[in-house]
Amino acid sequence: MENEKTGEVLRVASDEERDQAIIDAGFIPGWIGEGGLRPEPLHDFEPDTWNWETGRALLEAAATSINPRVAERRNIRMANSAAEKRTSLNSIHCSYQMVAPGEFARAHRHTINAGRFILESKGAFTTLEGKKIFMEPNDIILTPNWLWHGLGNENLEAPAFWIDFLDDPLVAALKTIFFEVRDEDYKEMPIKEGSHHHIRWRDLDLQLEDLVPDPNGRYGKRLQLQTPSIPTMRLYIERFDKHMTVNPVKSTANHLFICAEGSGTTKVEDKTFNWQRGDVIAVPSWKLFNHRASINATLLEITDQPVIEALGWYRETTV
Ligand SMILES: [Fe+2]
Repeated sequence: MENEKTGEVLRVASDEERDQAIIDAGFIPGWIGEGGLRPEPLHDFEPDTWNWETGRALLEAAATSINPRVAERRNIRMANSAAEKRTSLNSIHCSYQMVAPGEFARAHRHTINAGRFILESKGAFTTLEGKKIFMEPNDIILTPNWLWHGLGNENLEAPAFWIDFLDDPLVAALKTIFFEVRDEDYKEMPIKEGSHHHIRWRDLDLQLEDLVPDPNGRYGKRLQLQTPSIPTMRLYIERFDKHMTVNPVKSTANHLFICAEGSGTTKVEDKTFNWQRGDVIAVPSWKLFNHRASINATLLEITDQPVIEALGWYRETTV
């Protein structure tokens, strides 16, 4: 206020008037409200869980009234329980999806990187670039950025279900989502075997058996999947022996865990989540967490760690 020029612009009688004058001019005073700098990250997503048994029942009920031709996909989003969230975490997300018996949905492509973890399939397929890939339970299919993919179920009795995992919150935040649809002739389409976007459970199962748990107690038998086509997410499959507990860790990466088999618990700070096959656990970044297996169990881990690492912000601690 001592400076003559400053005094002309901000000649006010009180702190409130001064701040209001700054706001009226289209600014926000940096000295009021929430600052951007704090000693550690403050996360507005909560640790959370979604139950497959509940999700399956809801999808079956919804199947009678939702036409996927209209809705594009018949899925339910695992929205975080924190206020006003539509995604599981702030960079990665999961949904349960169902394909009714004999149902086919048109193909689409998007700049979102995604994958599907198959829960139930007796003749369901994903189309990738105009070729059909049939899926078995616990298989993983990757549908990377801008790759055409469709879906269908040739079984006339049994619905198919899977979990979609996506980086759509990140792509949405960066305002880089593009999306297109097209019709495909499934009847004339060739079947593809051995796509590098198709990670078969039977192969993973064999590879896991050859591994040993981390000697430092950090992990069970843990295998990083080769997924260079989805650079925003890294996938691990981790197998635990009955009653195995791994050491707690917290990091600046977000994590989603899908139970592929068995059952156990995940402790995140002061919350404990039980899981069994098909359930999903969301662990926001900078929350201390660890797993414990009740019986022999396997988790699929999806993390945004490669994004955080690429930008130089990856940190982890065990306390
Ligand atoms: Fe998609």
